[in-house]
Amino acid sequence: MEKRIILFASGNGSNVENIDQYFQQYPEISLLGVFTNNPNAGVINRAKRLNLPIKVFDKTAFTNGDLLHQIKSLNPDLLILAGFLWKIGADWIRVFPNKIINIHPALLPKYGGKGMYGEHVHRAVKENKEKETGITIHFVNEAYDEGAIIFQEKVKLQAQDQVEDIAAKVHQLEYKFFPKIVHTLLKKEIK
Ligand code: GAR
Repeated sequence: MEKRIILFASGNGSNVENIDQYFQQYPEISLLGVFTNNPNAGVINRAKRLNLPIKVFDKTAFTNGDLLHQIKSLNPDLLILAGFLWKIGADWIRVFPNKIINIHPALLPKYGGKGMYGEHVHRAVKENKEKETGITIHFVNEAYDEGAIIFQEKVKLQAQDQVEDIAAKVHQLEYKFFPKIVHTLLKKEIK
């Protein structure tokens, strides 16, 4: 059965590319487009290269209902936050209950919340001399990084791992598991 996904990203977009690649083998899953709040994001050129529709939006459209209306009219089964940094408003969660998922580059509830994204997370993990880190895929609710957890996976860290080594280990987990978890959710009846 056909399923439709939309991606949101604020940065480089390597997860966007990985998800796009994964679903090439599943023509029943359509990637309707990529939406970004950041006019300088690397994901823009990446999406163009991949021939994915890309749309840049601003804070006004994000908060006044315009973008929500536009996305709703595309009738997606799942909205996927792949490195998206703005907080999702309560109106979005009402319109898409349990249909918005996020990936976080740490083992929530540790290292979550406002300001905890990308490198900031990995730096905090390093400073705290954590022996492991990982990824969390979760439903989005009104509170940053607090929605129900769908999936977590850990990776061991070595004392000599630098922030960029930690980031690389986490990205490997993201590439391996994020598309598969999205696919599993799409195969279930999402109401
Ligand atoms: C990913 O590591 C993702 O987990 C993280 O941003 C990175 C985006 O990388 N998301 C957050 O920190 C959300 N709080 P990418 O642009 O290369 O896919």
